[in-house]
Amino acid sequence: MDCPLCRAEGEQLLEADDRLRVIEVLEPRLPGYRRIIWQQHRRELTELSEIDRGHWFAKVAQQEDSLRARWACDKINHASFGNLVPHLHWHVMPRWRTDPWWPSPVWGSKQPSTRMGVTQNAQGLFLLGLDEKSSDSESSLAIQIDEWLSLKESCAAIRQKVFVEEQGVAAQEEWDELDWACRHLLISRSNTPLATGRLLSLGDGRARIGRMAVRKDHRGQGLGRIVLQGLIAEARRLGFAEIILHAQTHALGFYARAGFAAQGPEFDECRIPHREMVLRLE
Ligand code: COA
Repeated sequence: MDCPLCRAEGEQLLEADDRLRVIEVLEPRLPGYRRIIWQQHRRELTELSEIDRGHWFAKVAQQEDSLRARWACDKINHASFGNLVPHLHWHVMPRWRTDPWWPSPVWGSKQPSTRMGVTQNAQGLFLLGLDEKSSDSESSLAIQIDEWLSLKESCAAIRQKVFVEEQGVAAQEEWDELDWACRHLLISRSNTPLATGRLLSLGDGRARIGRMAVRKDHRGQGLGRIVLQGLIAEARRLGFAEIILHAQTHALGFYARAGFAAQGPEFDECRIPHREMVLRLE
């Protein structure tokens, strides 16, 4: 029988012994996804001896510990199907409250895409509630919160210009696999992307806002405040108790206006001075 799990081609091997192996599954949409594979053909756990089962479960627990040490996630999912190949193999993957499928399994339904409206008064632009429509004068401003797969082209275009080109952040620091575990907010006008930010669960009831960027020629018009308000509303929707962020020191006042308080000392991130800020959600 031509069995793909026997061939073991193109695998990113993490560890192996004579009975089982652990591989990293190269699927960018699922950061941290690993697979534990029994080396020989065994369809079910029931076909393993007592000792081999002990070895299997010790490895599963070890992988869970190792994933938790590597990723600040909300949950580790385990799944076993094995319908196509006669090979015992378990899928092990970290999950985040902000990932595209939460709280469903990764083969289930996805979190909804959220659209928001804005309104303008003498103080400037303000965000309306979930799915409330903008008044006519601002109707060309589209605000959407969704997964990376849906928004990546537009959000990446803004971040490339602002962080990589304007601020000199190294590309390998700007682009990380956690984009796939985040909720992203995008503001665009007539299909031109203007501003973005992302929300990531830290796995302990807190969320982190990051990658806040407004195109240079559109700053000072209230778009940054709308990104922040939208991500705070999304954090409330998802039930987080607290939001933290790492603020570039020049932007401390911007976040303070939204209620964030600085805590702890200044530190460097991407060679830019930052401070941690926190907002408690009631
Ligand atoms: N310091 C203090 N206050 C600031 C500020 C700053 N750097 N930038 C804006 N504000 C104030 C505004 O005056 C406004 O105040 P108001 O509510 O009293 O009118 C309020 O914050 C909202 O400003 P807004 O026009 O919405 O900000 P913006 O659209 O210019 O966006 C940034 C702010 C920081 C997101 C934007 O400047 C940016 O993209 N900078 C480059 C990338 C960056 O540094 N990101 C932050 C990483 S931590």
